[in-house]
Amino acid sequence: MRVKDGLLMAAGIDDIAVYIPRLFVDAADFASARGLDPAKLQKGLGISQMAMVDTNQDPACLAANACLKIMQKNNLSPDDIGRLYVATESALDESKAMNSYVIGMLEQVYGSESFEHCGGIETKFACVSGSYALYDNTNWIRAGEAENKHALVVVSDIAKYDLGSSGEMTQGAGAVAMLLNDHPRLLAFDPKVTATSIKDEYDFYRPIGKETPIVHGQYSNLLYLIQVKKALDAYKKKVLSTGLIKLKEGESFLDYIDYLNMHLPYSNMGKKALAYLVRHEWRTLPRWKKIIEKIGMEEPSPKDPRGTIESILADADFMAKDHQFTKLLTNTEEFQEIYEAKLASSLIAPKMIGNLYTASLYLGFRSSLEFEYQKGVDLAGKRIGFGSYGSGSSAMVFSGVIQPEYESIVKEMNIETEIGPRKKLSLEEYESIHENKLSLNQNILDGKKEFVLVDVATNPEFRGQRRYVFNE
Ligand code: COA
Repeated sequence: MRVKDGLLMAAGIDDIAVYIPRLFVDAADFASARGLDPAKLQKGLGISQMAMVDTNQDPACLAANACLKIMQKNNLSPDDIGRLYVATESALDESKAMNSYVIGMLEQVYGSESFEHCGGIETKFACVSGSYALYDNTNWIRAGEAENKHALVVVSDIAKYDLGSSGEMTQGAGAVAMLLNDHPRLLAFDPKVTATSIKDEYDFYRPIGKETPIVHGQYSNLLYLIQVKKALDAYKKKVLSTGLIKLKEGESFLDYIDYLNMHLPYSNMGKKALAYLVRHEWRTLPRWKKIIEKIGMEEPSPKDPRGTIESILADADFMAKDHQFTKLLTNTEEFQEIYEAKLASSLIAPKMIGNLYTASLYLGFRSSLEFEYQKGVDLAGKRIGFGSYGSGSSAMVFSGVIQPEYESIVKEMNIETEIGPRKKLSLEEYESIHENKLSLNQNILDGKKEFVLVDVATNPEFRGQRRYVFNE
């Protein structure tokens, strides 16, 4: 345990496990059913498959399956877990927290009341709440409250949009469980630099009782960029004032972030975000002059630079020029280099799985570890930056450093093996599940060695009570 200024400083992610439902919709099938060009999904948005839940799965099952995996892999007993947080925006109840369902499921395996002293809550703030949960639990460990126990933070969601809506092509489902402690083998978070931004907004929200969100997609995309940029500016101030990063003339602090993981409602949003942040960060540096020369056009600005998001989106001339400028920037050698080096590997798994809301950022992180390691890169000591965004809206920017023991975890990573054999749904099957036309027991897969939902009570006295079993 490292102690500095009276605080325990090393805290972070020791291991990570994912649970992805094995049913999926193929992007090309989906596009042809909706009369879309498949290239819009595959190239435009970066989606090749979208994971879908079976009739007997819900976000609590996904979370419990991810927790069981990480506990079994690390031979942990419930006594080793001091806290279990579930971050989700697919809440099952207005009052009962999702971690309680997860503990109920885990106790079927580990014994009744075995998690009796494991504290925790469900956290909510659209897709950013997992990052807040990680931050709070990291600080619980740093403060010395953990008493040698681990924290489990699970991000779990089902990204479900209305049939025929523009969001329907950006669905997905899955959970990522992260084990935190004071001697992390994978990543130690940088202390005192985490930064946030927040603003009361309605870019994407799900009123009580509604199963699918109300989404203003283009508004949300732009708000995401603005909010992450604001959090990044605050992060930058902190890394410079704490001395975590020391800049020389003409350098950007992004030069010192080896990998960037962004929130990924669809994988190409990562590229859009990188372009936006690079533009913001490089614009005042000497290197920008050369890039502008290569692009062959000046950076456009809106008619009303102090206008609202609505006025900017309505400024058709600016939007078209800005789109063109971004495309030209992303084609430059300078951008391609930073994209390939810092971001591209994080987009591989999300392309195969789709949107996981709270879990998207962390599936990207997991993807980046696996595919960078496969390239033969020595990841020890590399700094990873995280750009987390949640609609409604808040962003969080933070960073961490890959630890010397990372290889013992990363060398075992294989996303395809971890998902297991997948089954492609026909569009008819997909629509029946999506529209809740099938009952719980009309499941398509057998769900062996997994938690599944077997009943949701409907009688008035017990309405909403959910019963799960572990399928031997
Ligand atoms: N071939 C290749 N690319 C194509 C294409 C084709 N035939 N048709 C469109 N595209 C590209 C577009 O150029 C665009 O890429 P670009 O922005 O890099 O230029 C991309 O595909 C998406 O097209 P667009 O017209 O912007 O899509 P849309 O307006 O139909 O919807 C979302 C996209 C993401 C806004 C929508 O799916 C949505 O609302 N999703 C849910 C909410 C969400 O994800 N919010 C994000 C913030 S958290």
